[in-house]
Amino acid sequence: MVRHMFSNLLLLWSLSHDLYITGLTYNAPQEQSWNNQNLSSVPLDLDVRLRRLDLSNNLIRQLHTLALPYLEQLDLSSNQLDFISDGAFENLARLEQLNLSRNGLNNNLGSNSKALQSLSGLKTLDISMNGLSDDAVELYLRNKSSLDQLQMTGNALKRLSHSLFKESKGLRTITIDDNLISEIEQGTFEPLIHLETLNLAKNNLAHICDFKLHQIKYLNLSRNSVEFFVTRQDDQLYRLEVLDLSYNKLLYFPIVPKMNCLRYLYLQNNMIGTLNSEATMVSETNSLYNEITRKKIVSKNNLHSNWRPMPLIYIDLSYNHFRSFPLETLSLLSSLETLNFSYNCLQNIFWDIRNYSESGHVRQLFFPSLKHLDLQSNGLLYMSPLFLNSLTQIETLNLEDNSVQPCASTDHLRSSQSTQQINVSTSCVALGQLRTLKHLNLKENNIKILEPHTFQRTSLVSLNLAKNVHMVIHEGALEGAQTSLQSLIISEINMSSSHLSLPCLPALTQLNLSNNHLDVIPSSLICSPLREVDIRNNVLMTLNHSLIQALSTHLTIMYISGNRFNCCDSKWLKILNETKIKLPDIGEAECFTRVRKFVMMEYLKNHVLNCLFHTQPQEVHPGQIIIIILFVGVILAVLIVFSRKLCCTQRSFVV
Ligand SMILES: *[C@@H]1O[C@H](CO)[C@@H](O)[C@H](O)[C@H]1NC(C)=O
Ligand SMILES: *[C@@H]1O[C@H](CO)[C@@H](O)[C@H](O)[C@H]1NC(C)=O
Ligand SMILES: *[C@@H]1O[C@H](CO)[C@@H](O)[C@H](O)[C@H]1NC(C)=O
Ligand SMILES: *[C@@H]1O[C@H](CO)[C@@H](O)[C@H](O)[C@H]1NC(C)=O
Ligand SMILES: *[C@@H]1O[C@H](CO)[C@@H](O)[C@H](O)[C@H]1NC(C)=O
Ligand SMILES: *[C@@H]1O[C@H](CO)[C@@H](O)[C@H](O)[C@H]1NC(C)=O
Ligand SMILES: *[C@@H]1O[C@H](CO)[C@@H](O)[C@H](O)[C@H]1NC(C)=O
Ligand SMILES: *[C@@H]1O[C@H](CO)[C@@H](O)[C@H](O)[C@H]1NC(C)=O
Ligand SMILES: *[C@@H]1O[C@H](CO)[C@@H](O)[C@H](O)[C@H]1NC(C)=O
Ligand SMILES: *[C@@H]1O[C@H](CO)[C@@H](O)[C@H](O)[C@H]1NC(C)=O
Ligand SMILES: *[C@@H]1O[C@H](CO)[C@@H](O)[C@H](O)[C@H]1NC(C)=O
Repeated sequence: MVRHMFSNLLLLWSLSHDLYITGLTYNAPQEQSWNNQNLSSVPLDLDVRLRRLDLSNNLIRQLHTLALPYLEQLDLSSNQLDFISDGAFENLARLEQLNLSRNGLNNNLGSNSKALQSLSGLKTLDISMNGLSDDAVELYLRNKSSLDQLQMTGNALKRLSHSLFKESKGLRTITIDDNLISEIEQGTFEPLIHLETLNLAKNNLAHICDFKLHQIKYLNLSRNSVEFFVTRQDDQLYRLEVLDLSYNKLLYFPIVPKMNCLRYLYLQNNMIGTLNSEATMVSETNSLYNEITRKKIVSKNNLHSNWRPMPLIYIDLSYNHFRSFPLETLSLLSSLETLNFSYNCLQNIFWDIRNYSESGHVRQLFFPSLKHLDLQSNGLLYMSPLFLNSLTQIETLNLEDNSVQPCASTDHLRSSQSTQQINVSTSCVALGQLRTLKHLNLKENNIKILEPHTFQRTSLVSLNLAKNVHMVIHEGALEGAQTSLQSLIISEINMSSSHLSLPCLPALTQLNLSNNHLDVIPSSLICSPLREVDIRNNVLMTLNHSLIQALSTHLTIMYISGNRFNCCDSKWLKILNETKIKLPDIGEAECFTRVRKFVMMEYLKNHVLNCLFHTQPQEVHPGQIIIIILFVGVILAVLIVFSRKLCCTQRSFVV
């Protein structure tokens, strides 16, 4: 029994001993940070067992031999390093990550490159912001067969040659943004069969005549001077998923590989659409293609045949020069979910597409997957009902900052019949037919009137009508969307209460009525489970306290500043205060008594006092004024008499 206990104890001891030992090794400093210590050299007494060492943000200029055989990560970024002795890294057999960004490594290339060449096991290397030239980089990349990630942002590379990566063929990610690259030699990236991510943003590349990188998934060419992007026809599969050509000088859509996996295409801030019609643009693109590839057969529509199978779900065409909507080209993209067409110059979306059949029927195309369409700031007046018909899955439509006049629901039949002879200046847009639409932004369209049943067949969830100064909202305007509407913005309309009548909106949780001339909030809101209300900058003097009481069960936040509240008629405020509803701008809210203005907070603190003080004098005002006038009169009379006497005596004294 005792022996048994003893052996148990022994076991316990040895267990805890083990724990102690392993705990000790675990506690050994695997990691040390000397970040931002004004060090001018590497500290001498470093623990040899270190795995990670951070020496970033110091003043180290020179690096001599480091003997840290277990070191895996070394951060020397943001120093003044320009000399690394050639054996400095020889004893860093396990080093995998090295950060040398923000130093001066374009000096002493001989010894620096020798030092770097001994790091053959490196996986990640950052040599950004070192002023490196093409030759320096080529030297630094020798003997790097394990290198996986390379960062060279902000150097002085001009021309990438096929020998640059010949000893670092395992690279998966290369970032060379913000350099001066204007030329890439054939065979520079092609042999890097593991390459997936290539970032060449912010360089000087002008033409991509022959895109050949089958292996890469992500290509960033943003902020170059690219005028066209062309892939020659072949039947190989390209793995490209993301292509960023934004902020370039593209005049045409890119000709992408025929077989690709492209899902995200960024083309914003280019000059696409400068040519008038879609037909012209398509034929010009194809002749450019033929010219570049020196093909004689001109009949084939390469742009369209390569776009058709593209599994794109996102395309950004904002800030281009489109004056007509490229219906045929974009409708080829059958997976497209998000189309950003904001900041172009559309004005009208007519349904002018080519007829293929002789039947005389206008061809109906579809955007079968499009959910989000952004048409902000296009000067839009008119959208053909056939275009609206084609948006079979649309959920979000942004029409902010256009000149769209929504139709009353019956109008759309009339306007869809007369597609050829519409009078654009008086025509309206039949938004009510978009059955799948959930989020509609009509801010700043100079809408004159919102007719009854404007959103008849939709099941709108959110509606923004802000900044349509002087818009009249017909009583039945929200009919149809009434039961689904959750968020409604009617701010900056200059609307008075007599012009605002809202129906019962049983789903409404967010309401913005700010920046109007409202003196009453509609009592029909009692129907709504409102959670967030903004009534800033109106002319409200009070709020209906029984309405507030009813709303307070759901209300969580309310903005109230910028009104002319009456301090002494504030039952509503007590209700809000008691129910702990957040009033984020209460500090700026003011209320008024007849004599002065109060900051609402101040009033809240001493409200009983203030209202007593200010209401009583108001009641006895006339009497008090008479007494004061009498009193002042008497004093004045006394003074006049007294001063005259004084003058007389003085004068007589002088004489
Ligand atoms: C580094 O030097 C600067 C300027 O001399 C000084 O302000 C700062 O406190 C120093 N930092 C450390 C950690 O010694
Ligand atoms: C290298 O250090 C810089 C900060 O000096 C940091 O921004 C960068 O992300 C680091 N590079 C890598 C590859 O971690
Ligand atoms: C490449 O790295 C290996 C292993 O670190 C080393 O033995 C060899 O000398 C290096 N080659 C050059 C040219 O530095
Ligand atoms: C491409 O690079 C630019 C510039 O660095 C960056 O702003 C943009 O987000 C990148 N694009 C993508 C799709 O990551
Ligand atoms: C469309 O692009 C504009 C401008 O770049 C941007 O502000 C907006 O958020 C984008 N819209 C969508 C839906 O991504
Ligand atoms: C398409 O056909 C209709 C009916 O035949 C015709 O009125 C229209 O002009 C044609 N449109 C084009 C672009 O050819
Ligand atoms: C279009 O409407 C305007 C304004 O009502 C009118 O003056 C003009 O005559 C109409 N034009 C046609 C072609 O109907
Ligand atoms: C209400 O609309 C105004 C613009 O008129 C905006 O400034 C404000 O942030 C909106 N309120 C809320 C709570 O979003
Ligand atoms: C809003 O209405 C007031 C008078 O009701 C007027 O003075 C003001 O100019 C209007 N604002 C705009 C932007 O029309
Ligand atoms: C206050 O609101 C209630 C509930 O909506 C309504 O019945 C009542 O008429 C309103 N009172 C005033 C003075 O508007
Ligand atoms: C508002 O509520 C706070 C506590 O939440 C309380 O101290 C204060 O007296 C209340 N003010 C009024 C006017 O009810």
